[in-house]
Amino acid sequence: MARLKKVYEGKAKILYEGPEPGTFIQYFKDDATAFNAQKKATIEGKGVLNNRLSEFFMQGLTNIGVPNHFIRRLNMREQLIRQVEIIPLEVIVRNFAAGSISKRLGMEEGTPLPRPIVEYSYKNDALGDPMVSEEYVVAFGWATQQDLDDIISIALRVNDFLSGVFYGVGIKLVDFKIEIGRIWDGDFMRLIVADEISPDSCRLWDIKTGQKLDKDVFRRDLGSLTDAYTEVAQRLGVLELVELLHPLLVLDTVGLHLRDRPVLHAIELLAQDELGILDDGLDQRQDVERIGRRLGLEAGQGLEHVQGQRLIH
Ligand code: TMP
Repeated sequence: MARLKKVYEGKAKILYEGPEPGTFIQYFKDDATAFNAQKKATIEGKGVLNNRLSEFFMQGLTNIGVPNHFIRRLNMREQLIRQVEIIPLEVIVRNFAAGSISKRLGMEEGTPLPRPIVEYSYKNDALGDPMVSEEYVVAFGWATQQDLDDIISIALRVNDFLSGVFYGVGIKLVDFKIEIGRIWDGDFMRLIVADEISPDSCRLWDIKTGQKLDKDVFRRDLGSLTDAYTEVAQRLGVLELVELLHPLLVLDTVGLHLRDRPVLHAIELLAQDELGILDDGLDQRQDVERIGRRLGLEAGQGLEHVQGQRLIH
């Protein structure tokens, strides 16, 4: 399939023109950056997990009536989204002190905050996304006071939703970042949640052990980021959806923890092929077959077989 035109490339995602006006295709890369891209790495499988997780959270928001850009997932790394006019702010909500607020105010990480605190950073890489006040936001015309009232209300609803979902699987939502976009319906403008919701943009701590299950694992060199995100996905039941999509994915996400690059690649191709969107090529086909054989599997084999072979336990 011919690749659609790229409209934007960020640090962790690429946006392509969508199949119809008012849509984009959002592609999740494996790239991770921290400290305004001073630290960089490619984390095999991160994009696949974040695509799934963002789908899960956005669908949950839709279910409780919080409008957002997600339309549907297209494949392992891509989702169809509504095109928005992005507001150039990172909207951060904090429940417990961590990261920059701890540094700024000398608060120990994990200290509960008196109430959820909403703050804004101006999205500008050259400036390192500086924190800004509401006064700045309104004075510089990034959003009106009315927009800000709506943004705070959306941010707090997202916070309540995510806090509850994570609490249910033994995870504390310390803080997170969302982005908000405008959509137009004639003259009528609405604000909706855009970008992504994933462990890249949240702080998630295991309630019992305090173990970090978010991008701080990468920022602070605390171990495998893929293992952390896989743990989050497994607890939320997101990987079960993967299993339903294609049995071989299980090998990847559960069995091999996305560590085996050729397997991940093969599985992606296979899934894309099945969904009819494979950018076909002989090499890729051969790859799939070769690796499938190496695994002792034929493409299309049933879940029971895969389970029997290597999965469960
Ligand atoms: P901070 O403590 O570094 O200000 O981060 C607050 C939250 O926002 C944390 O969950 C990580 C997230 N975040 C992003 O998603 N993107 C960013 O560029 C930064 C700095 C933070």
